[in-house]
Amino acid sequence: MTKGEIIVSLDIGTSKVRAIIAEITDGSLNIVGVGSADGEGIRKGAIVDIDKTVHSIREAVEHAERMVGIQIDSAYVGISGNHILMQQSQGVVAVSSPDREIGQEDIDRVLQAARVVALPPEREIIAVVPREFRVDGLDEIQDPRGMIGVRLEVDAYIITGAKTVVHNLLRCVERAGMVVAGLVLNSLGSATVALSADEQNLGVVLVDIGAGQTTISIFEKGVLVSTASLSIGGDYITQDIAIGMKTTTEVADAVKIRYGTAMVAAASAEDSFKIPRIGSQGEKEISQQELASIIEPRMQEIFYLINKEIDRIAPGREFPGGFVLCGGVAALAGTDRLAEHELGAPVRIAVPEFLGVRDPSYVNGVGVIRYVMRTYGRRAANLSSVRKQKVSNGLFDRIKGWFSDFV
Ligand SMILES: Nc1ncnc2c1ncn2[C@@H]1O[C@H](COP(=O)(O)OP(=O)(O)OP(=O)(O)O)[C@@H](O)[C@H]1O
Ligand SMILES: [Mg+2]
Repeated sequence: MTKGEIIVSLDIGTSKVRAIIAEITDGSLNIVGVGSADGEGIRKGAIVDIDKTVHSIREAVEHAERMVGIQIDSAYVGISGNHILMQQSQGVVAVSSPDREIGQEDIDRVLQAARVVALPPEREIIAVVPREFRVDGLDEIQDPRGMIGVRLEVDAYIITGAKTVVHNLLRCVERAGMVVAGLVLNSLGSATVALSADEQNLGVVLVDIGAGQTTISIFEKGVLVSTASLSIGGDYITQDIAIGMKTTTEVADAVKIRYGTAMVAAASAEDSFKIPRIGSQGEKEISQQELASIIEPRMQEIFYLINKEIDRIAPGREFPGGFVLCGGVAALAGTDRLAEHELGAPVRIAVPEFLGVRDPSYVNGVGVIRYVMRTYGRRAANLSSVRKQKVSNGLFDRIKGWFSDFV
């Protein structure tokens, strides 16, 4: 039924695995299929059970496939977690063309040069992000294409992940019957949906609060400069509710989503709901305010830990662009107000502007598609050659091949 180019993303999260099918027609993006499944086999953002994860991926993909009526055989996969590290690197090359005009090929070569760093054997490069280019010593160049010069240099960040984590992720997707078209760092993908270019230039913190992990990504001068991941999230709030109300985690999660608010002051004492209690036949009536009194302290703690982590990774830095929140927890009513209070800075909640995915928990999945689409437009020729190479090479050779897709 579709005519345009199809891009599929997979967001393998602690609470949900999400598959999104997008159609790109004349450069514009349309979300045509969305599927999700409970994230069985994933704890705190990491795969702990391959079989269960494979099953969740299949289920999410089948949902999405049914919406579109096509079969998916490859997907771009989002990656995040506390195993992600960034390090700086430089590259230098001589401009190759006789007329000295810098082209994509020179940029590829200089980034390739920046990629040559000594890495411990257990780490794998996920992306190379150019921070600034220099042409014959002239610095602070964002895009040197079309400039004239002899010597092209780059200052870049190399983003690496733990080989085991990357390997497990790829294993699961491939065992679910798909080819991994590429890996995208969630921070880079989400930024294309959640952040404006101005915010990224001014300095902004993107915080993804999921079920089991919270990822902090700092952008300055238009690029990702720092990222860190904490093992905290919505699951903690659910646990607190389950314990406080003596009910199951399923019920706790459902009431949190349906009636929860982040601030007691904003909750109603009159509005109440009934929940079944563990170990008794009866139900208990609970007011929205009582629920908020369980949620608020945990939310405060989450923002306290976020603040502390930012002080650690970016001490003394100011962020004129403020904070932008995404991830499921950002959908909790009143989160923006509580966060502004706790962080002492302007806070905005990011939501993808597409039908069917208008929820902060879809920022990662839609972000991966946007990121691929942006890179794709520029580098269509390279992508197809990387695809061909993927069929014959081994797993890690393939990862090496992808890196060139994503700079
Ligand atoms: N409207 C809502 N109000 C409160 N909490 C919500 C709401 N919607 C989702 N959540 C919570 O957000 C969390 C899920 O967020 P998300 O889908 O971003 O996580 P994930 O990607 O599965 O996990 P992670 O990124 O941690 O691996 C759950 O704890 C869920 O209860
Ligand atoms: Mg997530």
